[in-house]
Amino acid sequence: MTTSKKLQSFTAPKGVPDYVPPASSEFLAVRDRFTGHAHAAGYEHIELPIFEDTALFARGVGESTDVVSKEMYTFADRGERSVTLRPEGTAGVMRAVIEHGLDRGALPVKLAYSGPFFRYERPQAGRYRQLQQVGVEAIGVDDPALDAEVIALADRCFASVGLTQYRLELTSLGDATCRPAYREKLQEFLFALPLDEETRRRAEINPLRVLDDKRPAVREMTADAPLMLDYLSPETREHFETVTGLLTDLGVAFEINPRMVRGLDYYTKTCFEFVHDGLGAQSGIGGGGRYDGLMSQLGGQDLSGIGFGLGVDRTLLAMQAEGVSASAGRRVDVYGVALGAAAKREMVRLVDQLRAASVSADMSYGDRGLKGAMKGADRAGAQFALVLGDRELEAGEVAVKDLQAHEQTTVALADVVRHLQARLERG
Ligand code: HAM
Repeated sequence: MTTSKKLQSFTAPKGVPDYVPPASSEFLAVRDRFTGHAHAAGYEHIELPIFEDTALFARGVGESTDVVSKEMYTFADRGERSVTLRPEGTAGVMRAVIEHGLDRGALPVKLAYSGPFFRYERPQAGRYRQLQQVGVEAIGVDDPALDAEVIALADRCFASVGLTQYRLELTSLGDATCRPAYREKLQEFLFALPLDEETRRRAEINPLRVLDDKRPAVREMTADAPLMLDYLSPETREHFETVTGLLTDLGVAFEINPRMVRGLDYYTKTCFEFVHDGLGAQSGIGGGGRYDGLMSQLGGQDLSGIGFGLGVDRTLLAMQAEGVSASAGRRVDVYGVALGAAAKREMVRLVDQLRAASVSADMSYGDRGLKGAMKGADRAGAQFALVLGDRELEAGEVAVKDLQAHEQTTVALADVVRHLQARLERG
């Protein structure tokens, strides 16, 4: 007798979520709902590479950001090129727009994307190393009405999956005409504080980040720090006021958060974040903003753009926290139960006909008996079960059980596809 030794099994890499049934249908529902809203607002699909030239992110996202300096999955491919699994989508979209000359056509170029992004972060609830986003970018026109459109679109996405306990935080980060002077003012303020070595270094490289420090002592010291919103140029102030005015017209509630700091360096002017209260520390369910210099930074024309990235994983966690759902929970409408070999043969044909007529259908496989097979119908969330035994087959009929109304009728085999189509249409 041979004894087979069981091999060790595997788990997904640390910090990488799987979405398996039944949770996976919720995942799809959220992702598709978000992209559906984006397409309905005129954003066209763009399919981007999962990895790009490392320099694209270093230059686009910013060398001093945590994302680039600590979190990128970077490796040399077999041709010794340094490539990086995309940590975010905006830099890749911009690369593709420049490469394919989309910015030479009608503006704005409005694009939407979805898929996985990769950041080597310390995993915790809601913070993953493979994260899923739905994003949009509107490129080429610096019109505050576009800022309002993008923000209102994000708000519509979250509301449409049933979320209510989130808020929108908003600020303006100024632009090249006013940010340098503000930066100097802020540094002057920070350098006068008794900061530790590392924080002082941060104040030199990116002083705005110090305002986002969560330590109470630093918070206290920076309570009276100068804020960008008080140093906006007249043009950027007007831009921001137009955005907030339009959001008010659209009935999108927001709070001004002048200390907001985003983790990516390319932002200018409008900057926003959607925050959910039921998620603990990782409360950002989506965010974005305008980026004036990014396209020229990546070798393209000097055009502005604005966009967002919505976190699908965190949206799902927020929905769990609120107890709301976006999927119908039904896998198929019709479930076939065949008893005996001849009935099975007929059922295989019937289920195939239903699918060809766009009625979603599945059936019981293996020899499970009536009770076991009906459990399968329940698990599939089917509205109708078709039960076919020798007796029905001989009579050229099939029993149609309505699993919600607990009613049963007998229908001729030749009519059953039409019969079910009609009943499903009636709802
Ligand atoms: P981001 O704020 O870095 O922006 O990411 C957008 C969203 O992705 C976050 O609000 C969050 O919901 C989700 N997210 C980020 N990191 C993780 C993680 N480790 N685990 C789970 N979810 C995460 C961007 O990526 C910009 N590209 C957005 C943008 C588009 N700005 C302009 N256009």
